Amino acid sequence: MALREVLKMGDARLLAPSAPVCEFDTPQLHALVADLWDTMAAHDGAGLAAPQIGVNLQVVVFGFESNARYPEAEPVPHTVLVNPVLTPLGDEHEEGWEGCLSIPGMRGLVARHPRLTYRGHDAFGHAFERTVSGFHARVVQHETDHLRGVLYPMRMADLRNFGYAEALFPPGAADTR
Ligand code: NI
Repeated sequence: MALREVLKMGDARLLAPSAPVCEFDTPQLHALVADLWDTMAAHDGAGLAAPQIGVNLQVVVFGFESNARYPEAEPVPHTVLVNPVLTPLGDEHEEGWEGCLSIPGMRGLVARHPRLTYRGHDAFGHAFERTVSGFHARVVQHETDHLRGVLYPMRMADLRNFGYAEALFPPGAADTR
């Protein structure tokens, strides 16, 4: 287990599609997952994708009881998701504020599917499927986007809603994160 460097937007490795995991329950995969949890926790993240620490594999972790960066978000179960497949439910989109450990200090308003089903495997190779909504659905879409080389500003419709967290949400102002 180790803290890993989080790559920042501008690094070409964040734009590369990730390869599916073929072998489960290996020491290498468990070590990768442990590094993702450690690195995510050290940065108070809600989720982290393998390419963000320079590993080009379809592995993401996410989840929290409460999160200082997203104080109004409902809890999301701690989840290891390998080779994810997402199926949106319905055509509607909902806007919400997102940040990313690869874009530190910034927030942007991004439209996402409010409800979806995702399936994939855990690090042991057990398949699972969940139907989720709200912030959980948003986090899954954000993290799996990393596996396609997509960062949230690339999803934004209006870059006027992109800025520094402390300027968008000054202390004392209504917190809409
Ligand atoms: Ni991110």
